[in-house]
Amino acid sequence: MNKIKVGVVGTGFIGPAHIEALRRLPNIEVTALCEVNIELATAKAAQLGIERPCTFDQLLAMEDIVSVHVCTPNFLHFSQAKAALLAGKHVVCEKPLAKDLHEAAELVRLLENWPVNAVHFNLRYYPLVRHMKALRESGELGDIYSILGSYLQDWLFYNTDYNWRLEPDKSGDSRAIADIGSHLMDILEYITGLKTVEVMADFNTIHKTRKKPLKAVETYSGKMLQPEDYADVAINTEDHANVLLRFDNGNRGSITVSQVSAGRKNQLKLEISGSNKTFAWNSESPNELWVGNRDKANEYLMRDPSLVAAGARSIISFPGGHNEGFPDTSKQLFKEVYDAIAQNKMPDQATFPTFADGYRELLICERILESNKKQGWVTV
Ligand SMILES: NC(=O)c1ccc[n+]([C@@H]2O[C@H](COP(=O)([O-])OP(=O)(O)OC[C@H]3O[C@@H](n4cnc5c(N)ncnc54)[C@H](O)[C@@H]3O)[C@@H](O)[C@H]2O)c1
Repeated sequence: MNKIKVGVVGTGFIGPAHIEALRRLPNIEVTALCEVNIELATAKAAQLGIERPCTFDQLLAMEDIVSVHVCTPNFLHFSQAKAALLAGKHVVCEKPLAKDLHEAAELVRLLENWPVNAVHFNLRYYPLVRHMKALRESGELGDIYSILGSYLQDWLFYNTDYNWRLEPDKSGDSRAIADIGSHLMDILEYITGLKTVEVMADFNTIHKTRKKPLKAVETYSGKMLQPEDYADVAINTEDHANVLLRFDNGNRGSITVSQVSAGRKNQLKLEISGSNKTFAWNSESPNELWVGNRDKANEYLMRDPSLVAAGARSIISFPGGHNEGFPDTSKQLFKEVYDAIAQNKMPDQATFPTFADGYRELLICERILESNKKQGWVTV
């Protein structure tokens, strides 16, 4: 079999998740790996069993590399995705698509020349998420009355927790909304088919200063940083945000995101109430869906290919009771993206999230930022 050769850029948390997911597809070979310098690329390529460590320019010059996965911090997405598109590669970019709307708009403009583009909004690929979408499309949910969403984490709980996401020049002017609110806004519009038309946001920065480590600590080295190893840094992005939403069907919703909620590791929860029933789903138990009814007992669905809507079956690989989770979402997303790459063209109706979806999410994010600044409603 002639395998599609792929290059991955970035090997922090999500880069290796892309690599693993790609390796679970039969027609892909992860051939090249790029990092911030060639020494790190070489070490990581050896560790991950990838043939060609390389610089970014070397990657783009490899003619047999068909697609590039951008898995670097947000501020690099625009320049790397743009360069890869101009080099004639298909591009799968991490979310958020860019640091701001202006950059995202330029990427979308460039697509006139190059076919397949995707943003890794992988949470869409939990099978029960697609099941909810399919039931909404077939009318089983009815008209949507209200939406409630939250995305809570605790990895920035302490003022000593530090990451590039806390620095606007690397992450963008929003943090919790851009980092995890982006998934939430994307998934809500994806499931409901509604458009968010107005937003009203209120942000809070719990830790107004944080302690930035002045040197790296080796994991498991047993060494603790001392007070002189930190610098106090002012923080001007949100730890916590509440946003009221108005939708194009005239109804309303609200979301809360936080990166300082002790014990909430990575919990996206949503509750969508329609004129026929309510769906409630939690990403930390992604194989279970609660269905609320007014006139009969509430129901509880365990993900099972024989029980979900037909439209959700294609993204399930295991029978009921054999849990699928976060790593499976990327595999299912890439399966659809690489079907398109194998055809060398974007489908007329892409089933996967595209750069246009990445642009849309950044548009909402910028309006949310604007609303928080002026403390009033803003039209999307
Ligand atoms: N879809 C998801 O569920 C999900 C989850 C986590 C992260 N992300 C996104 O993925 C991106 C990366 O996040 P992460 O958590 O993996 O970050 P990370 O800090 O763990 O990893 C970033 C990697 O990029 C590398 N890098 C930095 N500059 C580079 C350069 N110039 N060239 C090549 N490589 C370079 C770093 O060395 C590091 O290995 C972010 O945009 C984030 O929003 C998405």
